[in-house]
Amino acid sequence: MSEISQYKKKTMKSAKLFARSSKLHVNGVSHNIRFYEPYPFVVKKSKGKNLIDVDDNKYTDYWMGHWSLILGHGPKKVKEALKKQIEKSWMYGTVNEQTIKLSEIISKAVPVAEKIRYVTSGTEATMYSVRLARSVTGRKIIAKIDGGWHGYTSDLLKSVNWPFSESESSGVVNEEKIISIPYNDLESSLKILQKVSKDLAGVIIEPVLGGGGCIPATKEYLKGIQEFTHKNKSLFILDEIVTGFRFRFGCLYPTMKLDPDIVTLGKIVGGGMAIGVMCGKKEIMQYADTKGKKKSERSYVGGGTFSANPSSMVAGHATLSALKSNKTIYSKINCLGDFARRELGKIFGDKVIITGKGSLFMTHFAKNGITEITNSTHVAKCDSSMLQKYHFKMISQDGIFFLPGKLGAISNAHSEVDIKKMVLASENFINSKR
Ligand SMILES: Cc1ncc(COP(=O)(O)O)c(C=O)c1O
Repeated sequence: MSEISQYKKKTMKSAKLFARSSKLHVNGVSHNIRFYEPYPFVVKKSKGKNLIDVDDNKYTDYWMGHWSLILGHGPKKVKEALKKQIEKSWMYGTVNEQTIKLSEIISKAVPVAEKIRYVTSGTEATMYSVRLARSVTGRKIIAKIDGGWHGYTSDLLKSVNWPFSESESSGVVNEEKIISIPYNDLESSLKILQKVSKDLAGVIIEPVLGGGGCIPATKEYLKGIQEFTHKNKSLFILDEIVTGFRFRFGCLYPTMKLDPDIVTLGKIVGGGMAIGVMCGKKEIMQYADTKGKKKSERSYVGGGTFSANPSSMVAGHATLSALKSNKTIYSKINCLGDFARRELGKIFGDKVIITGKGSLFMTHFAKNGITEITNSTHVAKCDSSMLQKYHFKMISQDGIFFLPGKLGAISNAHSEVDIKKMVLASENFINSKR
């Protein structure tokens, strides 16, 4: 039986529900990347490392809520904190102590977080960061990375997918104000930045390219870009929405002795609830202070009905408290990531390149002479349809879920046994292709 037939046979309730969903929702989904052929299974509940669908199939999950669930699904401490909060109610729309408590943890762990603003998605956090950079510098141009993903904000919806020169969407205006530079290629990037230096408000970069292929930036690259921006009086914005609290208790940037002006956070710091965070140095963030400033002087940023809602704040606080009090979590999941990369490397051999860092990893089926992956152009040249087939095979036959085509995240709920099972499933896949 083909993988598609196997999948259809075991997901009959999902098929019916997804047909209903498709009548109501564009593409049947509310986030474009959640759709895959023939239809995505519909989740009934989740626990620990597992997703359980409406047909009662269980999947070891490596998607982990868009990589936000570092403790696994529904961890006890977060659940208890949320239950307590729900007893007191879950939305105030006013200042609350829960926010202060979360910020106290973040500001201790993230030195640049001298001032913090909460929003309800990473998209908003990057959107406001870009606006702030323009306000602070009085300049218009923002540089981003080829393949960099910062959410659907119109400002940054450019050069996300190959070919990077093509517009990503209709309806986006002023695209000329966003320029794009090649990841991990300092010389070429500096040449491009130099050309727009007079109007360059800032550069926004992920220290590990997430959606663009799970590729760590080199320290030299980030340092070189930072040096340029600081000399040029442009802002250096690090988007740590994926990397913040993922590899260590705090951000990735201090490990490279970087000095960003603004850092964005999200995902993990919301403990599975909606969040986006903009943190920065006082002298930068004060541009967002509305007191006594004319409209033309201030940067109007942040907010939203649900910003700093107490449920996101307590879920984030409980998650960060658990990570802080149990430092072995990082060594455990980082080691599992190393193990996954090593074992997958052994079974795939030179057919495949495994990228990633710590508990994040991604498989790329080499093609077109690609022997290493240091940027999204390399990723685009690999065999993405093989990657989709590989992930779909694991969904249909092995009870393992990667969102097809995307990187995998290991949580504290995963074990070595899970990684071994995933490696065995990968070996079966590659053998079936020989
Ligand atoms: C690096 C990065 N920035 C920003 C975002 C957008 O965050 P959100 O999906 O919460 O809007 C994402 C989402 O995956 C991301 O990976």
